[in-house]
Amino acid sequence: MKLTGIILVAGEGTRLRPLTYTLPKPIIPLMGKPLVVRLIEDLKSVGVNEFHVVIGHLGFLFRQVLGDGASIGVKVNYVEQRERLGIAHAIHRAIEEGANGQLIVYLGDNYFQGGVSNFVKVFMENEYDVFIVLTRHRDPTRFGNAVISDGRVVKLIEKPKEPPPNSYVVTGVYMFSDPDDVERAFKSLKPSARGEYEITELIQWFIDNGRRVSYTVTNGWWKDMGTPQDMLDLMYLMLDETKPRIEGEVKGEVNGRVIIEEGAVIEGVVHGPAYIGRGSLVGRDTVIEHYVDVEANVSINGGSISRSLILDNVRLELGKARVVDSIIGPSTRIRLSNGVNRLIIGEGNIIENI
Ligand code: DAU
Repeated sequence: MKLTGIILVAGEGTRLRPLTYTLPKPIIPLMGKPLVVRLIEDLKSVGVNEFHVVIGHLGFLFRQVLGDGASIGVKVNYVEQRERLGIAHAIHRAIEEGANGQLIVYLGDNYFQGGVSNFVKVFMENEYDVFIVLTRHRDPTRFGNAVISDGRVVKLIEKPKEPPPNSYVVTGVYMFSDPDDVERAFKSLKPSARGEYEITELIQWFIDNGRRVSYTVTNGWWKDMGTPQDMLDLMYLMLDETKPRIEGEVKGEVNGRVIIEEGAVIEGVVHGPAYIGRGSLVGRDTVIEHYVDVEANVSINGGSISRSLILDNVRLELGKARVVDSIIGPSTRIRLSNGVNRLIIGEGNIIENI
């Protein structure tokens, strides 16, 4: 049976502004690769070769990054969702535009430890109509909740004020065996109080109509990237799993689990876990402390950096300044002289302490 990936990336990422004014979340690179590329590679490893990417806000950037998919060895189609009418609506749009076979639906701002290929394998080995992935979360009220009784999903509720007993949070990967059933379910929906066709209500139709809705509970970490802190947390988790690799030039000192990509030059000190991307320079008087991801073609002179993500083509002159818990957007220029600084900065800004 053919497997088709539907990836939803039509969100505006409002809580991650100013970064998302120019850079949708799934395109933000971590350790040298946009998250959406990692996701497609992961699904490809279990036989998903065709994708429908549902785009909206800044959709043209996905076309630039992914093209027709040939560079990843898959076929990528684009589906425009002009109005953000909900996850169920986005899936319906993809089916309208030709998505067929068994559907693996993925929310582009979700990330799972080790990816989702193992969940897809379970779905493929069983005869489920719908398969969802559940987890525990400290704040279930932010998510869809699934009530489990006798090992079965009996009810789905979107963002309940009071999480029901015996419930789990529903993560952002959903698998469906039959697109015709998804269309039947979609046609029965009405927009919710927030004006969206809800995924939880779509799946509830399958429960109410006697279809086999099954689930797994993941014990790995799961991140839904809403805020800058979520993005940083994801980066820490990914850095924690790095295997050291040095392809660039180390003239200074490198300690611990560190990746230095080709063309990068380390004149200062890098303490792991850390990632230094292609063509980037860590200058002589600079200390990269730990949990730092420096993407490609960045130059850093002076100062120290801790627990931060520095995107492509950034120039940092830090003097004696310390930068912590920061996300610095691409093509930014920053000159600081001292103090402890926390910066969340979008693309192309210039900040100079003179
Ligand atoms: O992250 C998991 C949660 O995702 C689930 O627990 C919820 O049941 C589900 O409704 C969803 O909740 P959110 O309110 O957090 O979804 P959000 O609006 O952030 O959209 C999630 C992704 O789907 C995001 O990458 C953008 C994309 N999307 C969303 C909507 C509403 C679209 O492509 N089109 C849409 O119309």
